[in-house]
Parts: sequence; C-alpha cells; structure tokens
Amino acid sequence: MNKTDFFTDGAAYERLMGRWSRLAGQVFLDWIAVPQGLRWIEIGCGTGAFTEELIKHRLPIELVALDPSPDQIAFARTRSSLAAVKFQTGDAQVLPFDDAVFDVAVMALVIHFLRDPLRGVVEAARVVGPGGWVVSYVWDYAMGGSPTAPVVAALKSLGFGTVSPPSAKATSSSALRDLWLSAKLDDIETRVIPVAVTFADFEEFWHSMTGPVGPVGKTIAEMSPDDVDRLRALLRTRTPTRPDGRVAYPANATAIKGRKRLP
Ligand SMILES: C[S@@+](CC[C@H](N)C(=O)[O-])C[C@H]1O[C@@H](n2cnc3c(N)ncnc32)[C@H](O)[C@@H]1O
Repeated sequence: MNKTDFFTDGAAYERLMGRWSRLAGQVFLDWIAVPQGLRWIEIGCGTGAFTEELIKHRLPIELVALDPSPDQIAFARTRSSLAAVKFQTGDAQVLPFDDAVFDVAVMALVIHFLRDPLRGVVEAARVVGPGGWVVSYVWDYAMGGSPTAPVVAALKSLGFGTVSPPSAKATSSSALRDLWLSAKLDDIETRVIPVAVTFADFEEFWHSMTGPVGPVGKTIAEMSPDDVDRLRALLRTRTPTRPDGRVAYPANATAIKGRKRLP
C-alpha cells in the first residue's frame, strides 16, 4: 500500500478526521501567531478541512494547497470557501516550487505519512523566504494521541496489525524538534494541543472509524465480515461511553513552529 492509497475517499475522511483536524487547527493557528495577509503553501491539504480554518484565521493573500491524492483534492475543490485556493498535486518531499516563493509553509497531520520526514521539512524551509515560517501539527502517535487510537488498540488486542503510516515515530515533540533543528530552522517552539473527541453515540463513532480511508479504515476494509463483527463487539465493551450514550475520549496533537534563518 503506498502513500496515496490511504486517502481515496474525501467524504469518509471528513467523517473520520476532518472535524478533529479543524479543532486542533484552530488552536494551532492562534498559537503560531503568524501575521495575516501572507503567502502560504499548505502541504498535504487533503480535503481542505484545515485549509478552511487557515483562510478564516489568517486571511492569506495567496494560498497554494498541494496533495498527492487527486481524490482528496477533488473533494477540497467542491468547497466554495476555497474557490481562491490554487490546488495542485505533488509530493512534500519534492515540492514543485522555486526557492523562497512563500512566507509560510504548513503541514497539518501530514509528516507521519512522509517516507523521509526530514526531506519534507527541508523542502518546506526551501520554499519560504528568509524569516519565513515552517509550522506543523500532527497527532502524537507515540502517546496514542490520534482519534483512531481506541480502534488501533482494539485491532491489536484481536491480533491485527494496523497498516502504519511510514513515519509514526516522527510525531513526538522531541522527534519534531530534531527535524526542525536538522533543517536549520530557528526560534523553534513546540506545544501539545489537546482535543476532546466526542460522538453522539457508539453508532456514530463506529460509522466514523470504519470508512475506507486512512491506515485504520484501510485495515478494516481488508478484514473478513466475521472479524469486523468481533472488532465491533470488542469496541462496544471498551469504548469510553457516558451515561447519556455519548462516546468521549481525549486526543493530543503536537504542534511545532520555526523560522528560516535570515542571511
Ligand atoms: C491525515 S490527512 C491530513 C489532511 C489535511 N491536512 C487535514 O488536516 O485534514 C494526510 C494527508 O497527507 C497527504 N500526503 C500523504 N503523503 C504525502 C506526501 N508525500 N506529500 C504531501 N502530502 C502527502 C495525504 O494524501 C492526505 O491528504
């Protein structure tokens, strides 16, 4: 399974992850404290969930949004709020742009999908000008911080390995800091962004988690109906559920910001 095969269904992605990316993204966009009205490149824009938040909060004068998945970009293009965005397909590790043509480069929930995360950060730094920002947030997989963590744990209990993103180890704050330092970025800061994941009931949780998208959804899509039933039964018993039926548990993203050195 290669990197684009995880992301082939925009609607399923929205049910699974878009809303949680937005919640983390709102906190992140305040925290990075980048001025409004700059030239942005969003790397790994997917369905445009974070892109919408970026436009609302930072009012870019130019926004290019890149993703290797034509399906995710097709979904993003259906959002009228993104009509001014220049979408294109491409790979974070070989960005199809000249040096120093943007002010800010951002990756939202992307770095763990890169086979060579350092190359992705170096590329992001290359395309911003001196003093420009390279910023990112991603679920902390090392700490079980993803909204999908309960399903991953249940799959493991049943003896199924999830098809992991290639660089899940790059998601801790120390690993991210090392990447930003290796890319020679300055003024590096990190923080944790807690996100409260909630669903109206178990059915909504199950419907969200089992769409055919992302490492977990793709793993489930390849299981037999009997095994899917076993997974569902196990999750029924162990998913944190409140007396009113709501499913609720915490997720955690790690955020990082840094700036390109002035000459
Ligand atoms: C979890 S989604 C995040 C989408 C969006 N940024 C958000 O916050 O909702 C990960 C995205 O990374 C993209 N991706 C995977 N490999 C990539 C690569 N090599 N370069 C750029 N993006 C990549 C996927 O296609 C997918 O859209």
